Amino acid sequence: TPSVCIAIDGPAGAGKSTAAKMLASKLGYVYVDTGAMYRAVTYQALMDKINMDDTGALTQIAETIDLALKVDAGGRTRILIAGTDVTQQIRCPEVSNNVSLVSRIPGVRNVLTRLQRELAAQGSVVMEGRDIGTKVLPAADKKFFLTASVEERARRRFLELQQIGYQVKYDEVIQDIILRDEIDSNRALAPLKPAPDAVIVDCSGLTAEQVVDTLLSIVSGG
Ligand code: C5P
Repeated sequence: TPSVCIAIDGPAGAGKSTAAKMLASKLGYVYVDTGAMYRAVTYQALMDKINMDDTGALTQIAETIDLALKVDAGGRTRILIAGTDVTQQIRCPEVSNNVSLVSRIPGVRNVLTRLQRELAAQGSVVMEGRDIGTKVLPAADKKFFLTASVEERARRRFLELQQIGYQVKYDEVIQDIILRDEIDSNRALAPLKPAPDAVIVDCSGLTAEQVVDTLLSIVSGG
């Protein structure tokens, strides 16, 4: 059977990850979190004390990083750099504050885009990010663009971060989200925007289950 690609894009905290993960498990597809890949490169750059405007050094990290996405026994995706599990570390505020500076670099995007296309070629995927429908998989079978109000997105991110053990302030989370969306939306290469053929879903006030039901009914409706 030919493989199927579902693209899910949208701004930070719109509920993409939860929805994409649940959709993938319901369909039996592989879930690919492309934001985690940009975060892993950023994490490595911070560890190596690379300057965030050193495009050459940042591109080189993307080209040489030994990145692996693995699914654990509980069905959660783990991110490994050279075999070390960095799933939790890549969510830290320092990575969040710098990732948009790294992801705007064309050399970094080229490497990760190629990797993402390779993953999609291996089987059916639900791939989540900012440019999946517009750039990575423009021929995706179904494209979604998930949005929500900035307050709701910040609240969601705030709770997620608390749950994984980060002591953060709501005000800082909302500032991070506003700044990140601004940089992501205005970069020259593959900016955050809905593909012309994407279905836009406003997730404000919807539970994760309601979002997934909406996506599923659209996917199965053809
Ligand atoms: O999805 P998440 O919030 O973890 O993504 C982190 C960052 O990675 C985004 O703010 C964006 O700068 C970058 N990103 C991207 N393209 C993607 C996915 C993420 O530029 N497809």
